[in-house]
Amino acid sequence: MRPAQIIEPGGDTMSHTILPHGGTLVNRIVEKRRTLPDAESLRSVTVDRWTLSDIECLAIGAFSPLTGFMNEADYYHVVESMRLADGTVWSLPITLAVDETVYGDVKPGERLLLRGDDGKSYAVLTVESCYSPDKKREALYVYQTTDDAHPGVKKLYQKPNLYVGGPIDVWQRPTPSLFPEYYYTPAQTRALFKEKGWKKVVGFQTRNPVHRAHEYIQKAALEIVDGLFLNPLVGETKADDVPVSVRMESYLVLLQHYYPANRVFLGAFPAAMRYAGPREAVFHAIIRKNYGCTHFIVGRDHAGVGDYYGTYDAQYIFSEFAPDELGIQLLFFEHSFYCTECQGMATTKTCPHDNSLHLTLSGTKVRQMLRSGQTPPPEFTRPEVARVLINGLQERLIIET
Ligand code: ADX
Repeated sequence: MRPAQIIEPGGDTMSHTILPHGGTLVNRIVEKRRTLPDAESLRSVTVDRWTLSDIECLAIGAFSPLTGFMNEADYYHVVESMRLADGTVWSLPITLAVDETVYGDVKPGERLLLRGDDGKSYAVLTVESCYSPDKKREALYVYQTTDDAHPGVKKLYQKPNLYVGGPIDVWQRPTPSLFPEYYYTPAQTRALFKEKGWKKVVGFQTRNPVHRAHEYIQKAALEIVDGLFLNPLVGETKADDVPVSVRMESYLVLLQHYYPANRVFLGAFPAAMRYAGPREAVFHAIIRKNYGCTHFIVGRDHAGVGDYYGTYDAQYIFSEFAPDELGIQLLFFEHSFYCTECQGMATTKTCPHDNSLHLTLSGTKVRQMLRSGQTPPPEFTRPEVARVLINGLQERLIIET
């Protein structure tokens, strides 16, 4: 069913309140009861941090319409055709992998207790199907490579070989160890956007500090919508990415100095990073729709890593879907940079000057500079942000050595 449309002054067509993906905002949180009545009688599975972040996203409906880990039919449809078995667009497998030597005899109908490595019981999964995936095939379809140097593929290969799928009921949500005040459910962000009177909200995914290029595309988008939802991913990332604790500090200082408070809202996105490039861009867009965004930014090499994806592959992939199948407006941006001749941020769409006049630094180069205490140029990173990053990364180096 398509969301109700309103025609705004100026002829713009926009949904009043954007519907969640699949039409209904999922909530798998078991209300009010604190202890699980028959926990002792269930077999338990200890899940890693990555899976725990999936449990959180499923619990709060960020992964709507998913109600749990994928059963066999949904898994194969998603891997091969980026759709659930019922045809709804969904681009990444959300699976629970268990050790086949221990759980090889699990049968549909059995309930499994999902515990964290802290020993806490978080959720109960009611098994619908158990299946052995072809991981090479999964890697090839989802990540477009079988190379285990790719961090997402590496993670996939490290997982056990049996998948168990079915809906989950979440008895206890994982407690964020840092910045808990920035965790919101999609129901909460939807209510907040409404309260602020924002009809058009652009979502921004990031796993990095916000540099000038990010700021430029965010603000360009903000010119045509009512609010910006800065929604950094705070789940597991690869070891050399800037840690969440430091990143969150950097977002706060940037917002304080350079963004109008009434136009921006910062909230954490608890998922883990897959580095699946184009497929992850679709996934990220769907999730921001669930959080209540009407628009979503996809820039250059979104969710990419190394040279696995082309610069704009994460934009091209959206042409595989009809616009109303996704139900969120994509805002595509070209690679942006500071041009010394224009004396401002630009892209090749807006700047006529030669590349030699453009300031571009790779993420790796910037991380190296920051870790060695060097401040990147202000045309690349705001000085307040650079200070937070240098201090944060230096402190971590002291702790780690
Ligand atoms: S990501 O893995 O979360 O995509 P990152 O935090 O670097 O990585 O990017 C966040 C968003 O900004 C993505 O949509 C990405 O495409 C976009 N982006 C990052 N750098 C640039 C740039 N220089 N020009 C245009 N878009 C960019």
